[in-house]
Amino acid sequence: MKAAILILAAIGAQACQRERSFKNHLHTHVKRQASNITFPPVLDDNERILLDSFDNTSIAEWSYYYTHGDHVAGRNKTMAQWTADKWAEGGFTSRLDEYYVYLNYPVSNSLVLTYPNGTTLSASLEEAVLEEDETTGYPNRIPTFHGYSASGNVSAEFVYVGRGQQVDFDRLIALGVELEGKIAVAKYGGPFRGLKVKNAQEHGMIGAVIFSDPVDDGNVTEAKGVAAYPNGPARNPTSVQRGSVQFLSIYPGDPTTPGYTSKEDSLRADKSNSVPRIPSIPISWLDAQPILQSLNDFGDNGTEVNRTGWVGAIPGVSYSTGQGSTATLSLTNVMEDAYTPIWDAIGIINGTSQDEVIIVGNHRDAWIVGGAADPNSGSAVLIELSKAFGKLLETGWRPTRTIVLASWDAEEYGLVGSTEWVEEYIPWLKTAAVSYLNIDIAVSGPIPGIAATPDLHSIGTEVMKKITFPYRGSTNQTMYDVWEEEDGEIGVLGSGSDYTSFLHRGIASIDVGAGGGPGDPIYPYHSNYDSYHWMSTFGDPGFHTHKAMGQYLTLLLYHFANDASVPLEPSGYVPEFRTYLEELNSTITSANGTLDLSELTDAISTFESSAQEFDELRQLAISSNNTELLTVANQKARDFSRGFTSQGGLDGREFFQNLIFAPGLDTGYAPVTFPGITESITFQNNFTRAQEWVAKTADAVLVAASILKT
Ligand SMILES: *[C@@H]1O[C@H](CO)[C@@H](O)[C@H](O)[C@H]1NC(C)=O
Ligand SMILES: *[C@@H]1O[C@H](CO)[C@@H](O)[C@H](O)[C@H]1NC(C)=O
Ligand SMILES: *[C@@H]1O[C@H](CO)[C@@H](O)[C@H](O)[C@H]1NC(C)=O
Ligand SMILES: *[C@@H]1O[C@H](CO)[C@@H](O)[C@H](O)[C@H]1NC(C)=O
Ligand SMILES: *[C@@H]1O[C@H](CO)[C@@H](O)[C@H](O)[C@H]1NC(C)=O
Ligand SMILES: *[C@@H]1O[C@H](CO)[C@@H](O)[C@H](O)[C@H]1NC(C)=O
Ligand SMILES: *[C@@H]1O[C@H](CO)[C@@H](O)[C@H](O)[C@H]1NC(C)=O
Ligand SMILES: *[C@@H]1O[C@H](CO)[C@@H](O)[C@H](O)[C@H]1NC(C)=O
Ligand SMILES: *[C@@H]1O[C@H](CO)[C@@H](O)[C@H](O)[C@H]1NC(C)=O
Ligand SMILES: *[C@@H]1O[C@H](CO)[C@@H](O)[C@H](O)[C@H]1NC(C)=O
Ligand SMILES: *[C@@H]1O[C@H](CO)[C@@H](O)[C@H](O)[C@H]1NC(C)=O
Ligand SMILES: *[C@@H]1O[C@H](CO)[C@@H](O)[C@H](O)[C@H]1NC(C)=O
Ligand SMILES: [Zn+2]
Repeated sequence: MKAAILILAAIGAQACQRERSFKNHLHTHVKRQASNITFPPVLDDNERILLDSFDNTSIAEWSYYYTHGDHVAGRNKTMAQWTADKWAEGGFTSRLDEYYVYLNYPVSNSLVLTYPNGTTLSASLEEAVLEEDETTGYPNRIPTFHGYSASGNVSAEFVYVGRGQQVDFDRLIALGVELEGKIAVAKYGGPFRGLKVKNAQEHGMIGAVIFSDPVDDGNVTEAKGVAAYPNGPARNPTSVQRGSVQFLSIYPGDPTTPGYTSKEDSLRADKSNSVPRIPSIPISWLDAQPILQSLNDFGDNGTEVNRTGWVGAIPGVSYSTGQGSTATLSLTNVMEDAYTPIWDAIGIINGTSQDEVIIVGNHRDAWIVGGAADPNSGSAVLIELSKAFGKLLETGWRPTRTIVLASWDAEEYGLVGSTEWVEEYIPWLKTAAVSYLNIDIAVSGPIPGIAATPDLHSIGTEVMKKITFPYRGSTNQTMYDVWEEEDGEIGVLGSGSDYTSFLHRGIASIDVGAGGGPGDPIYPYHSNYDSYHWMSTFGDPGFHTHKAMGQYLTLLLYHFANDASVPLEPSGYVPEFRTYLEELNSTITSANGTLDLSELTDAISTFESSAQEFDELRQLAISSNNTELLTVANQKARDFSRGFTSQGGLDGREFFQNLIFAPGLDTGYAPVTFPGITESITFQNNFTRAQEWVAKTADAVLVAASILKT
């Protein structure tokens, strides 16, 4: 998943449930280092073998395979098996892990606008078939719909609700706009789409329509003279963003089996806490235009509403609330429920140390026949990675730590394949997982980005210095140079891709990918135009960025699997904690409250000393070549972040156990730090609760510190 709210500056990696940037919020931190980069990078023999194995032409071939068949979740076992077979060619022992999960599939939908004078207008709800782009015209192309949307048939007046965040609804209420019984028309961008529907539902609205808006495309628009796809890099006006409307910030995974694995005979729980009851559909800006125009002269206009992200760029639209218009919408959405198998492909190379494992994952399912960026740029890269390790195995090399490759199914519906897998293997993962490395949208543009837990910041940037990265015509720079030039920052993990289940069980995680910046071709996220043709024409002609991202992930994995000393830096948390504290402090200040943070600041000091002791221990182990001591250090590095989790999870969302970072309750993609404390203030306005969370969070930091302590 991953999506994009690109505002200014470069974009980081993309995941499927996020809207573009890792950099659209406060929680990104510059990580600059003394520049000691050599070009060309200096590599050892193994690194050389791995990197030389990468071939952009074969990546293009794997991409072509993945982007020419229906692979919506649960619908293409052949593709799962093909993936497992390819990994086996590289020497991985591979298999399919099957789960039985609740999904729903589109049957039909319609949307009719009735003007006050009785004239009606039907929305097309289809993306134009393009002669140049063959998969847009496949007879089995996937209709536009929302995964996990409710079936329904509703007819009512409608209200424009901006991006559908809670604050947008608060503003509408302040302006006296009636919401009860109406249909919400919301703009994409900002919070995860499922939360827009959730917020509409909670305000008594009976249906939701979510449209794409060219305002998110900056200057790369037809209105500013740029040709639209397929003739140019601007958005095709008919393009529609499909996607899940699960309540992602409450619970990812199969909504009918919260907290346990979905098997054929599993008990099924009520799903109404994590999926909507009201119907919703996505539409293009072209379909949205007359609907919004019919509200133009009714209620406050966009300027008067004066809310962040409210006004878009659809020609002739004033983004008025619509209060008083008597135009209506009739929305039907027919979905078919299914309890159906999904397949995670799993490939393993055993390490010599059996109690240390690195997992590398990418999802395989897409909303469309294509999916060239999301997620199959990542899938293509993983096959090339398996080939590279095959080459290294031929030399007699064996990993110290076990490597697990995973190709997740049903990520798009709500991280389902990875969540069920983690739920099944949690006892083993809690004991043995050293790190989880995620790649989802490996490439949707030229700019590399990463988001990671702070213990991965150091290795994450060091490995960038070993990768030659193509960039706007030049090939004489490292990935690190490009990243720095684009004001590289390491993002904080929120949610929107498969690292979520790992992160919230205390496993160090990183998410990597390359995306577009202002001026780059518009990435047609979750649209039929995320196709092989788009990728090879606009996204990554020649597949050179694919190659570089694959090489990066490969070296990252290699060092995790091979280095005598586990390349995690617990002390990386210390400066991050300070930043999170400052942010918390300003949250407290702007809420006019007071909170005693001393317990937390003390815990952080204790953590800092433990991390220092740990560093000294590890240094000693290395300098004295003491393998027993090094084993102890490696175990501490692997285990300490489990301390950050709390069994009961956050208030009202048990799944989210990590007390240092979580997806925001009303953002879904973007993270909040010290979430227990922060959201007691921002959502509950309850400083008593916040003070309790200070104690719990401090305890978690102390548990992590005690694991590091020597
Ligand atoms: C660059 O410097 C850092 C810190 O001094 C060091 O850890 C790293 O190994 C160096 N990297 C290269 C490529 O020389
Ligand atoms: C599965 O995907 C492959 C590769 O894209 C495709 O050839 C095949 O037709 C798909 N199978 C189904 C049942 O759609
Ligand atoms: C009804 O109103 C719409 C929108 O203003 C207009 O386009 C249409 O021509 C009108 N139809 C009739 C029959 O007046
Ligand atoms: C769009 O173009 C204008 C004028 O050239 C420029 O000032 C602005 O920064 C551009 N916006 C973006 C998002 O690139
Ligand atoms: C919009 O709101 C901001 C404060 O949130 C205020 O400073 C500004 O004057 C408002 N603008 C208009 C046009 O009302
Ligand atoms: C919005 O309303 C204000 C004040 O009523 C008006 O000045 C402005 O031109 C309107 N803007 C649009 C885009 O209609
Ligand atoms: C890998 O290790 C596991 C656990 O010890 C064992 O069950 C499995 O057979 C091994 N696989 C191979 C290919 O050696
Ligand atoms: C890369 O090459 C270009 C032109 O060939 C040159 O302008 C640039 O300085 C070079 N960059 C580096 C990092 O060597
Ligand atoms: C919080 O801000 C206040 C001033 O507003 C300052 O005195 C205090 O040191 C800050 N605390 C932290 C932990 O940053
Ligand atoms: C905090 O106090 C200021 C000044 O008294 C007031 O304007 C603001 O609305 C208050 N904020 C909250 C969240 O209560
Ligand atoms: C470290 O110890 C291992 C065995 O414990 C030995 O094989 C190796 O040569 C030693 N390395 C150094 C640099 O002393
Ligand atoms: C605030 O939190 C406290 C402590 O958890 C709780 O007892 C109290 O009921 C909460 N207050 C409100 C208004 O929810
Ligand atoms: Zn994805």
